[in-house]
Amino acid sequence: MTAGRKSYIFFRVQKFDFVIIGSGVAGLRAAIDLSKRGSVAIITKSKPDESNTEYAQGGVAVAMSDEDDIWLHFDDTIQAGDGLCEPEAVHVLVEEGPERIQELIDWGTNFDRDGSQLSFTQEAAHSRHRVLHARGDSTGKEIIRSLLQTLKSAGNLTLMDHTFALDLIIRQNECRGVRFVSERTRSIDEVESRAVLICTGGAGQIFRDTTNPDIATGDGPAMGFRAGAELVDLEFFQFHPTALALAGAPRFLLTEALRGEGGVLRNQAGERFMERYHVRKELAPRDVVSRGIFAEMRKTGQPVYLDMTHLDSEFLKTRFPTIYHTCLRYGLNLARDPIPVQPAAHYMMGGLRTDLNGACTLKNLFAAGEAACTGVHGANRLASNSLLEGLVFGARAADAMGQRKIFEGPVTFQEARLELPPSSIPSRDDIRDMMTARVGIERNATDLQFTVSRLAARFDAADRLSAETNNMSTLAYLIASAALARQESRGAHFRTDFPARDDVRWRKRIILKSKDCKYIEVATLPVKERL
Ligand code: FUM
Repeated sequence: MTAGRKSYIFFRVQKFDFVIIGSGVAGLRAAIDLSKRGSVAIITKSKPDESNTEYAQGGVAVAMSDEDDIWLHFDDTIQAGDGLCEPEAVHVLVEEGPERIQELIDWGTNFDRDGSQLSFTQEAAHSRHRVLHARGDSTGKEIIRSLLQTLKSAGNLTLMDHTFALDLIIRQNECRGVRFVSERTRSIDEVESRAVLICTGGAGQIFRDTTNPDIATGDGPAMGFRAGAELVDLEFFQFHPTALALAGAPRFLLTEALRGEGGVLRNQAGERFMERYHVRKELAPRDVVSRGIFAEMRKTGQPVYLDMTHLDSEFLKTRFPTIYHTCLRYGLNLARDPIPVQPAAHYMMGGLRTDLNGACTLKNLFAAGEAACTGVHGANRLASNSLLEGLVFGARAADAMGQRKIFEGPVTFQEARLELPPSSIPSRDDIRDMMTARVGIERNATDLQFTVSRLAARFDAADRLSAETNNMSTLAYLIASAALARQESRGAHFRTDFPARDDVRWRKRIILKSKDCKYIEVATLPVKERL
Protein backbone atom coordinates (compact mmCIF):
# COMPACT_ATOMS: atom_id res chain seq x y z
CA MET A 1 0.00 0.00 0.00
CA THR A 2 2.74 2.50 0.84
CA ALA A 3 5.91 3.52 -0.84
CA GLY A 4 8.96 2.84 1.28
CA ARG A 5 7.30 0.24 3.54
CA LYS A 6 9.77 -2.25 5.01
CA SER A 7 9.24 -5.77 3.75
CA TYR A 8 8.35 -8.30 6.46
CA ILE A 9 8.42 -12.06 6.51
CA PHE A 10 4.89 -13.30 7.06
CA PHE A 11 4.74 -16.48 9.04
CA ARG A 12 1.08 -17.36 8.65
CA VAL A 13 -1.91 -16.25 6.64
CA GLN A 14 -5.20 -17.26 8.21
CA LYS A 15 -8.57 -16.95 6.50
CA PHE A 16 -11.89 -15.94 8.04
CA ASP A 17 -15.09 -14.70 6.47
CA PHE A 18 -15.18 -11.69 8.78
CA VAL A 19 -12.64 -9.91 10.96
CA ILE A 20 -13.61 -7.55 13.78
CA ILE A 21 -10.95 -5.31 15.35
CA GLY A 22 -11.90 -4.43 18.94
CA SER A 23 -13.98 -6.12 21.62
CA GLY A 24 -16.17 -3.33 23.01
CA VAL A 25 -19.95 -3.20 22.78
CA ALA A 26 -20.10 -2.61 18.99
CA GLY A 27 -17.63 -5.37 18.10
CA LEU A 28 -19.17 -7.99 20.37
CA ARG A 29 -22.71 -7.15 19.28
CA ALA A 30 -21.69 -7.50 15.63
CA ALA A 31 -19.88 -10.77 16.36
CA ILE A 32 -23.07 -12.38 17.67
CA ASP A 33 -24.81 -11.92 14.29
CA LEU A 34 -21.76 -12.48 12.08
CA SER A 35 -20.94 -15.80 13.71
CA LYS A 36 -24.27 -17.07 12.31
CA ARG A 37 -23.17 -16.12 8.79
CA GLY A 38 -19.60 -17.38 8.64
CA SER A 39 -16.29 -17.69 10.44
CA VAL A 40 -15.34 -14.68 12.57
CA ALA A 41 -12.08 -13.53 14.13
CA ILE A 42 -12.05 -10.82 16.80
CA ILE A 43 -8.66 -9.16 17.10
CA THR A 44 -8.26 -7.27 20.36
CA LYS A 45 -5.08 -5.78 21.72
CA SER A 46 -5.61 -6.48 25.40
CA LYS A 47 -7.90 -8.78 27.41
CA PRO A 48 -11.25 -9.60 25.76
CA ASP A 49 -13.09 -7.42 28.28
CA GLU A 50 -10.72 -4.42 28.13
CA SER A 51 -12.36 -1.60 26.18
CA ASN A 52 -13.86 1.84 26.68
CA THR A 53 -17.24 0.12 27.11
CA GLU A 54 -16.00 -1.72 30.21
CA TYR A 55 -15.60 1.64 31.99
CA ALA A 56 -19.00 3.11 31.03
CA GLN A 57 -20.70 3.96 34.28
CA GLY A 58 -23.82 6.06 33.87
CA GLY A 59 -25.69 3.91 31.46
CA VAL A 60 -27.49 3.53 28.23
CA ALA A 61 -30.12 5.99 27.02
CA VAL A 62 -33.22 4.44 25.48
CA ALA A 63 -36.83 5.57 25.12
CA MET A 64 -38.53 2.70 26.94
CA SER A 65 -40.12 4.27 29.99
CA ASP A 66 -43.83 5.12 30.23
CA GLU A 67 -43.06 8.86 30.30
CA ASP A 68 -40.89 8.72 27.17
CA ASP A 69 -41.10 8.20 23.41
CA ILE A 70 -38.58 7.97 20.61
CA TRP A 71 -39.34 11.47 19.30
CA LEU A 72 -38.43 13.04 22.64
CA HIS A 73 -35.15 11.09 22.55
CA PHE A 74 -34.71 12.22 18.91
CA ASP A 75 -35.25 15.89 19.83
CA ASP A 76 -32.85 15.79 22.81
CA THR A 77 -30.12 14.17 20.69
CA ILE A 78 -30.53 16.74 17.90
CA GLN A 79 -30.53 19.57 20.42
CA ALA A 80 -27.31 18.39 22.10
CA GLY A 81 -25.66 17.90 18.67
CA ASP A 82 -25.83 21.69 18.12
CA GLY A 83 -27.01 21.71 14.51
CA LEU A 84 -24.67 19.03 13.16
CA CYS A 85 -26.46 15.69 13.73
CA GLU A 86 -27.51 13.68 10.70
CA PRO A 87 -31.27 13.35 11.39
CA GLU A 88 -31.55 9.98 9.64
CA ALA A 89 -28.82 8.49 11.81
CA VAL A 90 -30.50 9.84 14.94
CA HIS A 91 -33.80 8.37 13.81
CA VAL A 92 -32.24 4.93 13.31
CA LEU A 93 -30.63 5.15 16.78
CA VAL A 94 -33.76 6.04 18.73
CA GLU A 95 -36.12 3.82 16.73
CA GLU A 96 -34.03 0.62 16.78
CA GLY A 97 -32.67 1.25 20.28
CA PRO A 98 -35.54 -0.33 22.28
CA GLU A 99 -35.33 -3.57 20.28
CA ARG A 100 -31.56 -3.82 20.79
CA ILE A 101 -31.98 -3.26 24.55
CA GLN A 102 -34.79 -5.83 24.84
CA GLU A 103 -32.50 -8.29 23.07
CA LEU A 104 -29.72 -7.56 25.60
CA ILE A 105 -32.14 -8.18 28.46
CA ASP A 106 -33.17 -11.48 26.82
CA TRP A 107 -29.46 -12.42 26.62
CA GLY A 108 -29.10 -11.92 30.37
CA THR A 109 -28.05 -8.30 30.94
CA ASN A 110 -29.27 -7.34 34.40
CA PHE A 111 -30.26 -3.70 34.32
CA ASP A 112 -31.20 -2.23 37.70
CA ARG A 113 -34.89 -2.27 38.54
CA ASP A 114 -37.34 -0.65 40.94
CA GLY A 115 -39.33 -3.73 41.88
CA SER A 116 -40.06 -5.41 38.55
CA GLN A 117 -39.80 -2.19 36.52
CA LEU A 118 -36.63 -1.04 34.80
CA SER A 119 -35.08 1.89 36.66
CA PHE A 120 -34.35 4.97 34.53
CA THR A 121 -32.16 7.81 35.73
CA GLN A 122 -31.73 11.36 34.43
CA GLU A 123 -28.59 12.75 32.83
CA ALA A 124 -27.66 16.11 31.38
CA ALA A 125 -29.68 17.46 28.43
CA HIS A 126 -32.23 14.62 28.60
CA SER A 127 -35.81 15.86 28.97
CA ARG A 128 -36.88 12.55 30.56
CA HIS A 129 -35.57 9.91 32.95
CA ARG A 130 -34.20 7.70 30.18
CA VAL A 131 -30.90 6.17 31.23
CA LEU A 132 -30.75 2.49 32.17
CA HIS A 133 -27.96 1.40 34.47
CA ALA A 134 -26.60 -1.84 35.86
CA ARG A 135 -25.03 -2.70 39.21
CA GLY A 136 -25.44 0.99 39.99
CA ASP A 137 -22.50 2.46 38.15
CA SER A 138 -21.07 -0.56 36.27
CA THR A 139 -23.32 -0.55 33.21
CA GLY A 140 -20.62 -1.14 30.59
CA LYS A 141 -19.08 -4.00 32.55
CA GLU A 142 -22.44 -5.76 32.84
CA ILE A 143 -23.18 -5.37 29.13
CA ILE A 144 -19.76 -6.75 28.16
CA ARG A 145 -20.23 -9.65 30.59
CA SER A 146 -23.52 -10.66 29.01
CA LEU A 147 -22.29 -10.21 25.42
CA LEU A 148 -19.19 -12.35 26.08
CA GLN A 149 -21.40 -14.93 27.78
CA THR A 150 -23.73 -15.01 24.77
CA LEU A 151 -20.76 -15.38 22.43
CA LYS A 152 -19.52 -18.44 24.35
CA SER A 153 -22.18 -20.53 22.68
CA ALA A 154 -21.46 -19.08 19.22
CA GLY A 155 -19.64 -21.52 16.97
CA ASN A 156 -17.39 -20.07 14.30
CA LEU A 157 -15.66 -17.54 16.55
CA THR A 158 -11.94 -17.11 17.22
CA LEU A 159 -11.02 -14.51 19.83
CA MET A 160 -7.45 -13.34 19.30
CA ASP A 161 -6.65 -11.39 22.46
CA HIS A 162 -3.35 -9.55 23.12
CA THR A 163 -3.13 -9.18 19.36
CA PHE A 164 -2.50 -5.77 17.87
CA ALA A 165 -3.83 -4.79 14.45
CA LEU A 166 -1.07 -2.89 12.67
CA ASP A 167 -2.73 -2.09 9.35
CA LEU A 168 -5.42 -3.01 6.90
CA ILE A 169 -4.47 -5.04 3.85
CA ILE A 170 -5.55 -3.14 0.75
CA ARG A 171 -5.50 -4.57 -2.76
CA GLN A 172 -7.09 -2.91 -5.81
CA ASN A 173 -8.65 -0.31 -3.52
CA GLU A 174 -10.48 -2.94 -1.49
CA CYS A 175 -9.91 -4.04 2.06
CA ARG A 176 -8.87 -7.71 2.07
CA GLY A 177 -7.79 -8.29 5.66
CA VAL A 178 -5.59 -7.19 8.52
CA ARG A 179 -1.88 -7.33 9.30
CA PHE A 180 -1.29 -7.87 13.01
CA VAL A 181 1.36 -8.55 15.61
CA SER A 182 0.79 -11.02 18.43
CA GLU A 183 1.97 -9.89 21.85
CA ARG A 184 2.74 -13.51 22.70
CA THR A 185 4.76 -14.65 19.68
CA ARG A 186 5.90 -11.18 18.51
CA SER A 187 5.39 -12.41 14.94
CA ILE A 188 3.67 -10.35 12.28
CA ASP A 189 0.94 -12.33 10.53
CA GLU A 190 -1.97 -11.66 8.24
CA VAL A 191 -5.59 -12.57 8.29
CA GLU A 192 -7.59 -12.47 5.05
CA SER A 193 -11.32 -11.89 5.04
CA ARG A 194 -14.35 -10.87 3.00
CA ALA A 195 -14.92 -7.85 5.21
CA VAL A 196 -13.29 -6.06 8.15
CA LEU A 197 -15.15 -4.20 10.91
CA ILE A 198 -13.27 -1.57 12.90
CA CYS A 199 -14.59 -1.18 16.46
CA THR A 200 -11.47 0.06 18.22
CA GLY A 201 -13.23 2.68 20.36
CA GLY A 202 -11.85 6.09 21.27
CA ALA A 203 -8.65 8.08 21.49
CA GLY A 204 -8.71 9.83 24.89
CA GLN A 205 -5.04 8.92 25.39
CA ILE A 206 -3.99 11.73 23.05
CA PHE A 207 -4.87 14.13 25.89
CA ARG A 208 -3.11 14.39 29.26
CA ASP A 209 -6.31 14.13 31.33
CA THR A 210 -8.72 11.46 30.15
CA THR A 211 -11.36 9.12 31.52
CA ASN A 212 -10.34 6.54 28.87
CA PRO A 213 -8.20 3.47 29.58
CA ASP A 214 -4.64 3.06 28.22
CA ILE A 215 -5.86 1.18 25.16
CA ALA A 216 -7.75 4.22 23.76
CA THR A 217 -5.12 5.36 21.25
CA GLY A 218 -7.29 5.87 18.15
CA ASP A 219 -5.88 2.86 16.29
CA GLY A 220 -8.85 2.16 14.01
CA PRO A 221 -9.38 5.64 12.59
CA ALA A 222 -5.61 6.07 12.08
CA MET A 223 -5.39 2.71 10.32
CA GLY A 224 -8.39 3.58 8.15
CA PHE A 225 -6.79 6.92 7.28
CA ARG A 226 -3.58 5.22 6.14
CA ALA A 227 -5.67 2.89 3.97
CA GLY A 228 -7.44 5.82 2.28
CA ALA A 229 -10.83 5.74 4.05
CA GLU A 230 -12.61 9.02 4.84
CA LEU A 231 -12.75 10.51 8.36
CA VAL A 232 -15.26 13.13 9.48
CA ASP A 233 -16.20 15.44 12.41
CA LEU A 234 -12.79 14.99 14.04
CA GLU A 235 -12.71 18.49 15.51
CA PHE A 236 -15.42 17.48 18.00
CA PHE A 237 -13.89 15.79 21.05
CA GLN A 238 -16.08 15.70 24.14
CA PHE A 239 -14.69 16.51 27.58
CA HIS A 240 -16.57 14.93 30.46
CA PRO A 241 -17.12 17.63 33.09
CA THR A 242 -16.42 15.56 36.17
CA ALA A 243 -13.32 13.39 36.48
CA LEU A 244 -11.57 12.94 39.81
CA ALA A 245 -8.99 15.74 40.21
CA LEU A 246 -6.43 14.50 42.70
CA ALA A 247 -2.69 14.77 42.13
CA GLY A 248 -1.26 11.33 41.39
CA ALA A 249 -4.67 9.69 40.87
CA PRO A 250 -6.05 8.74 37.44
CA ARG A 251 -8.85 10.90 36.07
CA PHE A 252 -11.46 8.44 37.28
CA LEU A 253 -14.93 9.15 35.85
CA LEU A 254 -17.58 10.50 38.21
CA THR A 255 -20.70 9.71 36.25
CA GLU A 256 -23.12 12.39 35.16
CA ALA A 257 -25.80 10.33 36.90
CA LEU A 258 -24.39 11.73 40.18
CA ARG A 259 -25.63 15.12 39.05
CA GLY A 260 -28.79 13.49 37.69
CA GLU A 261 -29.48 12.22 41.23
CA GLY A 262 -29.00 15.70 42.72
CA GLY A 263 -25.24 16.35 42.91
CA VAL A 264 -24.24 20.01 42.61
CA LEU A 265 -21.03 21.72 41.49
CA ARG A 266 -19.34 24.29 43.71
CA ASN A 267 -16.29 26.47 43.16
CA GLN A 268 -13.52 27.12 45.68
CA ALA A 269 -15.73 29.75 47.36
CA GLY A 270 -18.53 27.18 47.80
CA GLU A 271 -20.71 28.97 45.23
CA ARG A 272 -23.06 26.91 42.99
CA PHE A 273 -21.56 28.52 39.90
CA MET A 274 -23.40 26.64 37.11
CA GLU A 275 -26.39 28.93 37.78
CA ARG A 276 -24.36 31.62 36.01
CA TYR A 277 -23.71 29.54 32.88
CA HIS A 278 -27.00 27.81 31.95
CA VAL A 279 -30.63 27.61 33.07
CA ARG A 280 -30.31 23.84 33.46
CA LYS A 281 -27.34 24.37 35.80
CA GLU A 282 -25.47 21.07 36.44
CA LEU A 283 -27.70 19.31 33.90
CA ALA A 284 -26.83 21.62 31.01
CA PRO A 285 -25.27 19.93 27.94
CA ARG A 286 -21.84 18.47 28.65
CA ASP A 287 -19.86 21.01 26.65
CA VAL A 288 -21.49 23.87 28.56
CA VAL A 289 -20.76 22.31 31.97
CA SER A 290 -17.15 21.53 30.97
CA ARG A 291 -16.56 25.11 29.81
CA GLY A 292 -18.20 26.45 32.99
CA ILE A 293 -15.84 24.37 35.15
CA PHE A 294 -12.87 25.31 32.96
CA ALA A 295 -13.66 29.03 33.42
CA GLU A 296 -13.97 28.64 37.20
CA MET A 297 -10.71 26.68 37.38
CA ARG A 298 -8.90 29.32 35.39
CA LYS A 299 -9.82 31.94 37.99
CA THR A 300 -8.24 30.02 40.89
CA GLY A 301 -5.94 27.42 39.33
CA GLN A 302 -7.81 24.87 41.51
CA PRO A 303 -10.40 22.18 40.71
CA VAL A 304 -14.07 22.64 41.53
CA TYR A 305 -16.11 20.28 43.71
CA LEU A 306 -18.91 17.82 43.10
CA ASP A 307 -21.03 18.01 46.22
CA MET A 308 -23.20 14.99 47.11
CA THR A 309 -23.10 15.55 50.86
CA HIS A 310 -26.80 16.47 51.11
CA LEU A 311 -27.78 12.99 49.86
CA ASP A 312 -28.35 9.92 51.97
CA SER A 313 -25.21 7.92 52.60
CA GLU A 314 -26.88 4.50 52.19
CA PHE A 315 -28.41 5.63 48.87
CA LEU A 316 -24.99 6.77 47.59
CA LYS A 317 -23.35 3.50 48.62
CA THR A 318 -25.89 1.31 46.83
CA ARG A 319 -26.55 3.51 43.80
CA PHE A 320 -22.87 4.29 43.07
CA PRO A 321 -20.86 1.44 44.65
CA THR A 322 -17.80 1.64 42.36
CA ILE A 323 -17.48 5.39 42.73
CA TYR A 324 -18.14 5.28 46.46
CA HIS A 325 -15.39 2.72 47.07
CA THR A 326 -12.94 4.30 44.62
CA CYS A 327 -13.30 7.66 46.38
CA LEU A 328 -12.76 5.96 49.75
CA ARG A 329 -9.48 4.53 48.43
CA TYR A 330 -8.35 8.12 47.92
CA GLY A 331 -9.50 9.15 51.39
CA LEU A 332 -12.74 10.80 50.24
CA ASN A 333 -16.20 9.90 51.52
CA LEU A 334 -18.83 10.74 48.87
CA ALA A 335 -21.43 11.26 51.60
CA ARG A 336 -19.29 13.63 53.64
CA ASP A 337 -16.65 15.22 51.41
CA PRO A 338 -17.10 17.41 48.33
CA ILE A 339 -15.09 15.61 45.62
CA PRO A 340 -12.50 17.62 43.60
CA VAL A 341 -13.32 17.35 39.89
CA GLN A 342 -12.14 18.70 36.54
CA PRO A 343 -13.05 18.07 32.88
CA ALA A 344 -11.22 15.24 31.09
CA ALA A 345 -11.16 14.03 27.47
CA HIS A 346 -13.91 11.46 27.20
CA TYR A 347 -15.45 10.76 23.81
CA MET A 348 -14.51 11.30 20.17
CA MET A 349 -17.60 12.33 18.18
CA GLY A 350 -15.78 12.00 14.86
CA GLY A 351 -14.21 8.95 13.30
CA LEU A 352 -14.31 6.80 10.19
CA ARG A 353 -17.10 8.09 7.99
CA THR A 354 -19.81 5.47 7.57
CA ASP A 355 -23.27 5.29 6.09
CA LEU A 356 -26.22 4.03 8.12
CA ASN A 357 -25.09 0.44 7.55
CA GLY A 358 -21.62 0.95 8.99
CA ALA A 359 -19.98 0.84 5.55
CA CYS A 360 -16.83 2.98 5.24
CA THR A 361 -15.87 4.67 2.00
CA LEU A 362 -13.41 1.87 1.19
CA LYS A 363 -14.92 -1.34 -0.17
CA ASN A 364 -15.24 -4.23 2.36
CA LEU A 365 -14.33 -1.93 5.26
CA PHE A 366 -16.92 -1.25 7.98
CA ALA A 367 -16.81 0.60 11.30
CA ALA A 368 -19.10 0.93 14.32
CA GLY A 369 -19.09 2.50 17.78
CA GLU A 370 -16.77 5.32 18.82
CA ALA A 371 -14.24 4.64 16.02
CA ALA A 372 -17.00 5.30 13.47
CA CYS A 373 -18.95 8.42 12.62
CA THR A 374 -22.48 8.12 11.28
CA GLY A 375 -23.24 11.73 12.26
CA VAL A 376 -25.50 10.57 15.07
CA HIS A 377 -23.77 12.74 17.69
CA GLY A 378 -23.27 15.90 15.67
CA ALA A 379 -21.00 18.36 17.46
CA ASN A 380 -21.73 17.06 20.95
CA ARG A 381 -22.94 13.62 22.02
CA LEU A 382 -25.97 13.40 24.28
CA ALA A 383 -24.94 11.59 27.48
CA SER A 384 -25.30 7.80 27.42
CA ASN A 385 -26.11 7.60 23.71
CA SER A 386 -22.86 5.77 22.93
CA LEU A 387 -23.62 2.29 24.30
CA LEU A 388 -26.89 2.41 22.37
CA GLU A 389 -25.00 3.51 19.27
CA GLY A 390 -22.61 0.55 19.61
CA LEU A 391 -25.52 -1.89 19.82
CA VAL A 392 -27.63 -0.40 17.02
CA PHE A 393 -24.87 0.24 14.50
CA GLY A 394 -22.88 -2.88 15.47
CA ALA A 395 -25.94 -4.96 14.54
CA ARG A 396 -26.50 -2.98 11.33
CA ALA A 397 -22.87 -3.33 10.27
CA ALA A 398 -23.02 -7.11 10.80
CA ASP A 399 -26.07 -7.31 8.58
CA ALA A 400 -24.46 -5.17 5.87
CA MET A 401 -21.21 -7.19 5.97
CA GLY A 402 -23.19 -10.39 5.49
CA GLN A 403 -24.94 -8.83 2.49
CA ARG A 404 -21.74 -7.29 1.06
CA LYS A 405 -23.28 -3.82 1.07
CA ILE A 406 -21.17 -0.91 -0.10
CA PHE A 407 -21.00 2.73 1.01
CA GLU A 408 -23.92 4.95 0.09
CA GLY A 409 -23.40 8.68 -0.34
CA PRO A 410 -19.91 9.45 -1.69
CA VAL A 411 -18.72 13.09 -1.82
CA THR A 412 -16.48 14.78 -4.34
CA PHE A 413 -13.14 16.01 -3.04
CA GLN A 414 -12.76 19.33 -4.76
CA GLU A 415 -11.62 21.62 -2.03
CA ALA A 416 -8.40 22.23 -0.12
CA ARG A 417 -5.42 19.93 0.03
CA LEU A 418 -3.04 19.72 3.00
CA GLU A 419 0.52 18.50 2.69
CA LEU A 420 1.33 15.78 5.22
CA PRO A 421 3.93 17.34 7.52
CA PRO A 422 7.53 16.18 7.24
CA SER A 423 8.10 16.38 11.03
CA SER A 424 8.99 13.28 13.03
CA ILE A 425 6.61 11.66 15.53
CA PRO A 426 6.71 13.43 18.92
CA SER A 427 6.75 11.45 22.19
CA ARG A 428 3.41 10.51 23.77
CA ASP A 429 3.97 13.07 26.52
CA ASP A 430 4.57 15.82 23.96
CA ILE A 431 1.44 14.84 22.02
CA ARG A 432 -0.63 14.91 25.22
CA ASP A 433 0.79 18.21 26.44
CA MET A 434 0.21 19.90 23.08
CA MET A 435 -3.30 18.53 22.64
CA THR A 436 -4.30 19.50 26.19
CA ALA A 437 -2.87 23.00 26.11
CA ARG A 438 -3.73 23.88 22.51
CA VAL A 439 -6.49 21.61 21.16
CA GLY A 440 -8.56 21.08 24.32
CA ILE A 441 -11.67 22.79 25.66
CA GLU A 442 -10.63 26.11 24.09
CA ARG A 443 -8.73 26.57 20.83
CA ASN A 444 -7.41 29.37 18.63
CA ALA A 445 -5.65 29.61 15.26
CA THR A 446 -2.16 30.24 16.69
CA ASP A 447 -2.26 27.19 18.96
CA LEU A 448 -3.79 24.98 16.29
CA GLN A 449 -1.22 26.02 13.68
CA PHE A 450 1.58 25.33 16.15
CA THR A 451 0.19 21.85 16.90
CA VAL A 452 -0.29 20.97 13.25
CA SER A 453 3.31 21.95 12.53
CA ARG A 454 4.65 19.65 15.29
CA LEU A 455 2.71 16.46 14.57
CA ALA A 456 3.17 13.84 11.88
CA ALA A 457 1.70 10.67 10.43
CA ARG A 458 3.95 7.73 9.56
CA PHE A 459 3.09 4.67 7.57
CA ASP A 460 5.50 1.98 8.67
CA ALA A 461 5.28 0.97 12.34
CA ALA A 462 5.89 -2.74 13.07
CA ASP A 463 5.33 -3.14 16.81
CA ARG A 464 2.51 -2.20 19.14
CA LEU A 465 4.22 0.58 21.05
CA SER A 466 5.49 2.56 18.08
CA ALA A 467 2.31 1.85 16.08
CA GLU A 468 0.15 3.24 18.91
CA THR A 469 2.28 6.38 19.20
CA ASN A 470 2.08 6.80 15.46
CA ASN A 471 -1.71 6.37 15.58
CA MET A 472 -1.97 8.95 18.37
CA SER A 473 0.13 11.45 16.44
CA THR A 474 -1.82 10.83 13.23
CA LEU A 475 -5.18 11.34 14.88
CA ALA A 476 -3.99 14.35 16.87
CA TYR A 477 -2.74 15.88 13.63
CA LEU A 478 -6.09 15.29 11.91
CA ILE A 479 -8.08 16.62 14.88
CA ALA A 480 -5.98 19.80 15.03
CA SER A 481 -6.26 20.25 11.25
CA ALA A 482 -10.06 19.93 11.31
CA ALA A 483 -10.25 22.26 14.33
CA LEU A 484 -8.14 24.82 12.48
CA ALA A 485 -10.41 24.61 9.44
CA ARG A 486 -13.65 25.15 11.40
CA GLN A 487 -13.73 28.90 12.00
CA GLU A 488 -16.67 29.01 14.40
CA SER A 489 -17.69 27.58 17.79
CA ARG A 490 -20.18 24.75 18.01
CA GLY A 491 -20.78 21.93 20.48
CA ALA A 492 -17.52 20.59 21.82
CA HIS A 493 -15.43 22.79 19.49
CA PHE A 494 -14.84 26.23 21.03
CA ARG A 495 -12.64 28.75 19.20
CA THR A 496 -11.77 31.82 21.27
CA ASP A 497 -11.04 33.63 17.99
CA PHE A 498 -14.45 32.63 16.51
CA PRO A 499 -16.69 32.39 19.61
CA ALA A 500 -20.06 32.30 17.81
CA ARG A 501 -21.86 29.52 15.96
CA ASP A 502 -21.99 30.37 12.25
CA ASP A 503 -24.69 28.36 10.47
CA VAL A 504 -24.31 30.27 7.22
CA ARG A 505 -20.70 29.16 6.66
CA TRP A 506 -20.37 26.11 8.87
CA ARG A 507 -23.54 24.02 8.97
CA LYS A 508 -21.49 21.35 7.29
CA ARG A 509 -19.18 18.51 8.21
CA ILE A 510 -15.47 18.40 7.45
CA ILE A 511 -14.19 15.23 5.76
CA LEU A 512 -10.49 14.31 5.52
CA LYS A 513 -8.75 11.52 3.67
CA SER A 514 -5.21 10.65 2.74
CA LYS A 515 -4.23 10.59 -0.90
CA ASP A 516 -1.37 8.26 -1.85
CA CYS A 517 0.05 8.73 1.67
CA LYS A 518 1.41 12.08 0.46
CA TYR A 519 -1.22 14.67 1.26
CA ILE A 520 -4.69 15.08 2.73
CA GLU A 521 -7.79 15.88 0.71
CA VAL A 522 -10.53 17.92 2.36
CA ALA A 523 -14.24 18.06 1.52
CA THR A 524 -17.31 19.38 3.29
CA LEU A 525 -20.78 17.93 3.49
CA PRO A 526 -23.89 20.01 4.26
CA VAL A 527 -26.11 18.61 7.03
CA LYS A 528 -29.78 17.90 6.34
CA GLU A 529 -32.04 20.09 8.47
CA ARG A 530 -34.70 17.44 9.02
CA LEU A 531 -35.61 13.86 8.15
O1 FUM B 1 -21.33 10.25 32.98
C1 FUM B 1 -21.32 9.12 32.51
O2 FUM B 1 -21.67 8.13 33.12
C2 FUM B 1 -20.91 8.99 31.12
C3 FUM B 1 -21.80 8.65 30.26
C4 FUM B 1 -21.47 8.77 28.83
O3 FUM B 1 -20.39 9.23 28.51
O4 FUM B 1 -22.32 8.46 28.01
